[in-house]
Amino acid sequence: MEKYVSVKDIEEAALSILPKSARDYYKSGATEEQTLAENKLAFQRLRIRPKSLIGVSHCDLRTKVLGHDVSMPVGISPTAMQRMAHPEGELANARAAQAEKTIFTLSTIATSSIEEVAEAAPDAIKWFQLYIYNDREVTKNLVLRAEKAGFKAIALTVDTPLFGIRRADVRNKFTLPPHLRFANFEGFLSTKIRSTESGSGLNKYVENLFDKSLTWDDVKWLKSITTLPIIAKGILRGDDAVKAVQAGCSGILVSNHGARQLDGVPATIEALPEIVEAVRNYNVEVYLDGGVSTGTDVYKALALGAKMVFVGRPALWGLTVGGQAGVQRMLNIFKTELEYTFQIAGTPTIADITRDMVRHESTYSK
Ligand code: FNR
Repeated sequence: MEKYVSVKDIEEAALSILPKSARDYYKSGATEEQTLAENKLAFQRLRIRPKSLIGVSHCDLRTKVLGHDVSMPVGISPTAMQRMAHPEGELANARAAQAEKTIFTLSTIATSSIEEVAEAAPDAIKWFQLYIYNDREVTKNLVLRAEKAGFKAIALTVDTPLFGIRRADVRNKFTLPPHLRFANFEGFLSTKIRSTESGSGLNKYVENLFDKSLTWDDVKWLKSITTLPIIAKGILRGDDAVKAVQAGCSGILVSNHGARQLDGVPATIEALPEIVEAVRNYNVEVYLDGGVSTGTDVYKALALGAKMVFVGRPALWGLTVGGQAGVQRMLNIFKTELEYTFQIAGTPTIADITRDMVRHESTYSK
């Protein structure tokens, strides 16, 4: 894996290996993919302002998330159907997170089940990403299984009443390969995605089965059935962040679903400051995902107030090139780049990284 020196190296290798349908599904954003590009470009518009002669012989990336110790502020976001990237799919991804002592988030529509992941990576800090189905018994069952299997939080995705338009999936009539299934379900719900004649099979699955009528009251319902902390995943507005806290969420994941839902929404790093400010006086942790591909990206998010950053596609690319070892390589590249950034920026611990460490490029051009 040493030949991969950057996350981009891993991405390029993965894109050259994956079959078209899976590659397009993993890399696509919604419609024109403007936000997909912006998720990355917006990081580049921020400048780091290093401090000199601080004394950085001790450098510490560790942090605590919802009370759990992690080795660095980079974890793994939920992405569906990981066995299209590697035969061990989610199991390999969770084992990589376990080995690197960070968080792994399992998708509701994963190709490995809650129990399989728990068995494969018993010591990983695991979160379960939840889509709420029309059938509340099905939904409740997922939550109770995650709780029983030792998952530590529920990441409720709040940006997906239906799936965004991903044109490549429409063209490819995207569907799950026949040897795979949605492993958290039995029967109909595990294979229903296959029955498509035109358009994206995944979008049809979601349209039929996900509950489009969800409101913040449903978070209260979720709280009534579990003792696990709930994270609202997919927040892009300060007022929504406040509503999430008022509904009982312990964490806010600033996310635009990897730019796959609605094109034209802000890059997540652009949305982050508004949300951090809105919940400043509440006891809630704020995280970010979307377009994070270097250690300096992670650093910028920390400076703007994120407690932890997550990556979706980079883990899929790591899985594709080398299963567990590929994901570990990806995480280690982040770790090395972060260690360099912490030291050269003169902020050897997370507590040192204050808001003034980063400035928008526009403030330099005046
Ligand atoms: C996702 N994402 C996602 N989110 C979620 O809540 N449930 C899911 O099942 C999925 N599935 C999924 C599949 C694929 C292929 C991608 C790329 C993304 C969104 C994901 O959790 C995360 O928000 C983004 O991936 C973060 O952006 P980056 O790191 O991929 O740029």
